[in-house]
Amino acid sequence: MVKIIAIDGPSGAGKSSVARALAEKLGYLHVDSGALYRIYTWQALERGIDTTSPDAIAEFAKSVEIECAPEAGRIAYRVNGYEPKNEIREPRINAHTSEIAREKAVRDRVSALLRELVKFGNLVVEGRDITTAVFPETPARFYLTASAEARAARRAKQDAASGIKSGTEANVKASLLARDAIDSTRKYAPLTKADGVLEIDSTNLTFDETFRAAYDALPQDWRMGEL
Ligand code: DC
Repeated sequence: MVKIIAIDGPSGAGKSSVARALAEKLGYLHVDSGALYRIYTWQALERGIDTTSPDAIAEFAKSVEIECAPEAGRIAYRVNGYEPKNEIREPRINAHTSEIAREKAVRDRVSALLRELVKFGNLVVEGRDITTAVFPETPARFYLTASAEARAARRAKQDAASGIKSGTEANVKASLLARDAIDSTRKYAPLTKADGVLEIDSTNLTFDETFRAAYDALPQDWRMGEL
């Protein structure tokens, strides 16, 4: 049986860092599901699709093909053989990605693609609906959160380190709160903490403490010894 660790939470909660570290420690593949919604958004903007029109998005969604392949401990995504990097992390993508991600046509395609990834082996999957809709049956489910201030500060630092010009910390905070508002209130698979999912609030935790909280809560036979 393939093992799945599912991690949901709002923007900037530290999901990627914890997911990557768990994947590395356990030899699982890291799956960044948000990147798939970002790729749809990037493609929509490149093709001049009206991101406020559900009909236009539904029609457009059918034409996006994303190739997935395991690569250096993660699933890499390519469109026509090209792997997008910073272009899916830019402010223009942040501004429209929740509009794209709320459409059922897009969600159905991304969810199907994510479920197919089990063919590659054990996975650590992070996103907004992984614990509730994509892999709700897995015994390892986490809801990672932190205060808006902490999340904005971390995201601003990450963007600066990656050379992404996302503006001041106040701009970053406004952008992530705007996304969270749409992601948590949309009709299909909104971000929510389901019963039975372990909540970890990392506002006052170091990265090591956050990682340990998740690792120690894994089913015993999934862990590879004590930390
Ligand atoms: O995690 P992220 O910021 O890269 O996510 C980008 C967008 O995609 C954000 O608006 C939330 C949305 N998303 C989603 O709706 N469901 C997921 N499983 C992952 C991301």
